[in-house]
Amino acid sequence: MDVKKIAVIGAGAMGNGIAQVGLMAGFTVAMHDVEQRFVDRGVNTIKESLDKFVGKGKITEDQKKDMLARLLPTTDLKAAVADADLVIEAVFEDLGLKKKIFADLDAFAPERTILASNTSSMSITEIASATKRPGNVVGMHFFNPAVLMKLVEVIYAKHSADAAIQATFEVAKKMNKVPVIVKKDSPGFIYNRVNAPTALLLQLILESKSPTPAQFDAAFKTLMPMTPFELLDYVGLDIVEHTQKYYSETLSKDYTPRKALVDLVSSGNLGKKTGKGLYDWSAGRPAIDTSNPTTEYDFTHMVALQVNEATKLLEEGVVNDPRDIDLAMANGGGGIGPFTIAKSIGYDKLVARCTELADKFGIETFRPTRTMKEGKIQV
Ligand SMILES: NC(=O)c1ccc[n+]([C@@H]2O[C@H](COP(=O)([O-])OP(=O)(O)OC[C@H]3O[C@@H](n4cnc5c(N)ncnc54)[C@H](O)[C@@H]3O)[C@@H](O)[C@H]2O)c1
Repeated sequence: MDVKKIAVIGAGAMGNGIAQVGLMAGFTVAMHDVEQRFVDRGVNTIKESLDKFVGKGKITEDQKKDMLARLLPTTDLKAAVADADLVIEAVFEDLGLKKKIFADLDAFAPERTILASNTSSMSITEIASATKRPGNVVGMHFFNPAVLMKLVEVIYAKHSADAAIQATFEVAKKMNKVPVIVKKDSPGFIYNRVNAPTALLLQLILESKSPTPAQFDAAFKTLMPMTPFELLDYVGLDIVEHTQKYYSETLSKDYTPRKALVDLVSSGNLGKKTGKGLYDWSAGRPAIDTSNPTTEYDFTHMVALQVNEATKLLEEGVVNDPRDIDLAMANGGGGIGPFTIAKSIGYDKLVARCTELADKFGIETFRPTRTMKEGKIQV
């Protein structure tokens, strides 16, 4: 299928970023939102971002004009999708809303049109059930900020046709992204799933009160641009609580949000966006006291949990090739894929780390898998 026109539904943070990526790849892009002011805000964000590209000499003023001429902002859903080849939905993360929109898209878009959702967590299969074309419904999961982040997870829902997946994959490639196919519609897909147990470990450490976030982060300061607890604050503790709750309902009760996290959220200390969370963000990035790093945890604990979760994706058939997981993790923000790191640390050590954490916290999610214990994965 030759995709020429894309319609993006929702002009918020992700929607306008996806629309811009589409314009930069040469597509005609309709961008829809419910109110003119939301559409205008999205258009302005795109203009400002394109201006930066011009300023850096990455595109010319003429190219910018050409891109903006291909942008069709609208509050009319019917008009937005009438002749679209691919629709990418990026509205609020609300299943009822998404199903309602997919039913409308099904009614308004041509039969051949592929309908994709950018949901971070919801079942694409469930969303597709609102349509009469489940074969033409797929997941197309961009990462934030969509203009910069390379990874796009292209997700098979239960009934997605190979042709729809392939066409979506090609669009992502044309957008200069790194698409990775997710074979099975499963909570967290690849990137978020592999990171799920490390977020669980952090909330368990928070609950146990020792080490403190600063003592823990101090041990990671030289290894990563943003340390683990600082990252939770950056993402937003409400979002962390929400996703852990979602995993508690879909993966394991182990993920149930613990009191320390819940209390922070209910007191309004959500992290960067409220100026205070685990750290004080009122004067910009927090100054983390690195004088007293923990010796109880190091990099290998975090990696062990990630590699272990990645092996579950293989065992569950969410991904068939471990290189796809490494590709996804490296391009979603992780730098280096977990299996590549595992090769240098050694599976014996990682298995020991998983067992140590599973026993210490009584958490089966941390228990090493059969594949971990075999330690034979080649990337
Ligand atoms: N923000 C992220 O980090 C991120 C990353 C990947 C995926 N996602 C997913 O992308 C989706 C959008 O997230 P976001 O961060 O852009 O949210 P956002 O709140 O910035 O934007 C959502 C937009 O949807 C619009 N909207 C609401 N109802 C609508 C309707 N009926 N029709 C058209 N537009 C409607 C809103 O007006 C708003 O502009 C969610 O499913 C989210 O899970 C978010």
